[in-house]
Amino acid sequence: MNTAESYEGSILRELFGADEIARAIERLAGAIVRDYRNQPLTLVGVLKGALYVTADLARAISALADGPSEIAIDYLCVSSYGNASRSSGEVRLLKDIGETVAGSNIVIVEDIIDNGLTLQYLRALLGERNPASLRACVLFDKPYHRTAEVPVEYVGLRVPDVFVVGYGLDYQELFRNLPYLAQLRPEVFTDG
Ligand code: PRP
Repeated sequence: MNTAESYEGSILRELFGADEIARAIERLAGAIVRDYRNQPLTLVGVLKGALYVTADLARAISALADGPSEIAIDYLCVSSYGNASRSSGEVRLLKDIGETVAGSNIVIVEDIIDNGLTLQYLRALLGERNPASLRACVLFDKPYHRTAEVPVEYVGLRVPDVFVVGYGLDYQELFRNLPYLAQLRPEVFTDG
């Protein structure tokens, strides 16, 4: 399943187009700029899903006047879903960030929050490293099955209670490259 045609055949419906996603990221950037005016800021993107939102958010922040005095970008990699469509409930740190956190203003950047366990794990992990401040920015919010009530300071778009792919989100590592967010056809799922 790696041709454009088979990709299209797997999509049930588009939920948010590229333009709508870009506007949501601009709104998130505006809120972040207001909070970090003239302060240094480190964006910590959570791979793999947040690869696009982190890059686009950083550029959207840079495009606005009177924002952070400097922006650093780092990435870490965690996984809780593996290749399945449901979370295993266990978060694993596959790759840590490269820089120190102590004394920095950190914004964790996530593509999506669902049960909240990933963000809860990351807030605890980075929080105990003595950052100057620690906040979270999530592009897509699925609030229906939270098991961890974790704070999210910047929230983009609420998505329906369906499995979504695109704009960084995958099913079995496919579909991340779609520029829009989409719902897959039920028959695509092979893991129940
Ligand atoms: C996804 C997503 C978030 C997490 C959110 O990552 O990117 O990090 O799940 O889910 P939660 O709120 O239920 O914990 P995933 O584990 O699928 O890895 P990936 O980013 O590499 O696709």
